[in-house]
Amino acid sequence: MANSIITHEYDVIVVGAGGAGLRATLGCVEKGLKTACISKVFPTRSHTVAAQGGISAALGNMGEDDWRFHFYDTVKGSDWLGDQDAIEYLCREAIPAVLELERYGVPFSRTADGKIYQRAFGGMTTHYGKGQAQRTCAAADKTGHAILHTLYQQSLKHHAEFFIEYIVLDLIMENGACRGVLAWCLDDGSMHIFKAHSIILATGGYGRAYFSCTSAHTVTGDGNAMVLRAGLPLQDMEFIQFHPTGIYGAGCLITEGARGEGGYLTNSQGERFMERYAPNAKDLASRDVVSRAMTMEINAGRGVGKLKDHLYLHLEHLPATLIHERLPGISDTALVFAGVDVTKQPIPVLPTVHYNMGGIPTNYHAEVVTLENGNPDKIVDGLMAIGEAACVSVHGANRLGSNSLLDLVVFGRAAAHRCAEKITPNQSHSVLSAKLYDHSIERFERIRQARGSEKVSDIRIAMQKTMQSKAAVFRTQSTLDEGILDMKKVSDSFANIGLSDRSLIWNTDLVEALELDNLLAQATVAIHSAANRHESRGGHAREDYTLRDDENWLKHTLTWLQRDQVTIDYRPVHLYTLTNEVEMIAPKARVY
Ligand code: FUM
Repeated sequence: MANSIITHEYDVIVVGAGGAGLRATLGCVEKGLKTACISKVFPTRSHTVAAQGGISAALGNMGEDDWRFHFYDTVKGSDWLGDQDAIEYLCREAIPAVLELERYGVPFSRTADGKIYQRAFGGMTTHYGKGQAQRTCAAADKTGHAILHTLYQQSLKHHAEFFIEYIVLDLIMENGACRGVLAWCLDDGSMHIFKAHSIILATGGYGRAYFSCTSAHTVTGDGNAMVLRAGLPLQDMEFIQFHPTGIYGAGCLITEGARGEGGYLTNSQGERFMERYAPNAKDLASRDVVSRAMTMEINAGRGVGKLKDHLYLHLEHLPATLIHERLPGISDTALVFAGVDVTKQPIPVLPTVHYNMGGIPTNYHAEVVTLENGNPDKIVDGLMAIGEAACVSVHGANRLGSNSLLDLVVFGRAAAHRCAEKITPNQSHSVLSAKLYDHSIERFERIRQARGSEKVSDIRIAMQKTMQSKAAVFRTQSTLDEGILDMKKVSDSFANIGLSDRSLIWNTDLVEALELDNLLAQATVAIHSAANRHESRGGHAREDYTLRDDENWLKHTLTWLQRDQVTIDYRPVHLYTLTNEVEMIAPKARVY
């Protein structure tokens, strides 16, 4: 097969065509770099298309705001695990980055005087926790759709090249540096090497390691798994966010914007229980707080429905005109997936896996970093990561709603800036020896030819059920330790996998097997990281270690996976800012 490999040379290769990948692609072509974006799905079908509620930026269009308030909220929301230099960069750059989106043509909803409409979201405050901010810029409840289509159109306008429905198999590493990627074209079965001076991974999270999640079926964290196979670590994989309002049974997202517009949750007694758990922020407390409160209500027997295993989200008290104008998408989703007319009935909801705070460690320029010879910020030459694939870490232990679209756009843009600083267009590329990627082709062929008795779908469901039950909203040492053993059995069963299709053209059986292999690696390091962290922080709630423990655990977890063995080490949290325009915030007790 090696003889038939087609080689391409670019200044920059972006892997993934979601919001982060497209923003980086656009930024690179605007700066004159020869750039190609490789995507396993058509760009406008990337999962960003499903993002609903909006993108945060302290524009102050709907009341007073300041990027420093946004900084404070994001540090506090992260439960102090976020890197404060990166958070300063995120919140400050949010303003020009969103105004740029407006100029690119994103059809934002508008205020009466023509400004970008902004709604309230959880954890977003003014004056350092005193008031409620309206900071989330929205295009009705289809903001991701609006951004993704605009970025794709702009990328085409600037002549970015796209390789669509190509599966990137592995990074090509030489002496610790990334030189390119190996990819398989689904359409004609051909193999390709893409050489580049910078490879930007924008491959999203790994939500599909769980049974119930808001992510598309394509969200399998392929870039994260490639990084593990390259012998590099992932960071903070124990921090997995449950969104409070996934539709019961279907898992589809009902945007936090629904509560931002005035929606609220009730239990079987009709009680607005969030008033008890978070007297100030109530239904707009941060997601980790609301998801834990909902789980406690259900566990206390106050859930609704026959099985008392979910809760209600009410919008029926809101004017129908407001719902039609601001929340048309979730009104359709609720009707299709729950049979509910939101103007008349409450929506049955349940906390559902929504986001991975952990991922590929990077600095705020989007360069991948690793721990090497005591240096926790050693840059991996030629490799960058952005969006949910990356752990930059602006979300720390818990992400605030509407900071994800922002992360995509700000760090997609930052990656392009960095590439323009470091790369002279059209520099030559060195020859890559086949020894650098033979093992990747061998893995591909091993899986393609596998004739064992285990089915991809059976192994996948076993992994998803294990993660759902053993690395849930609330965790204990015994459930996590059991989860480690169960995940080991599930992962081992992959060695006995059998495929029924061995073709190279549109072999979805093989695609699913490769994606499953990627998910298994991430689920394994995630559950090991969770068992290892003996405290509660953000999305990681331990019933046996209920307090945050800054003395021992104010640090990022790093996990390597080599020959099925997980190794754990740590990086310090960046408790410093980039400038003196904002003050570093020392960890404080939780006050909601
Ligand atoms: O609820 C939402 O609209 C989700 C937003 C987000 O995850 O940032």
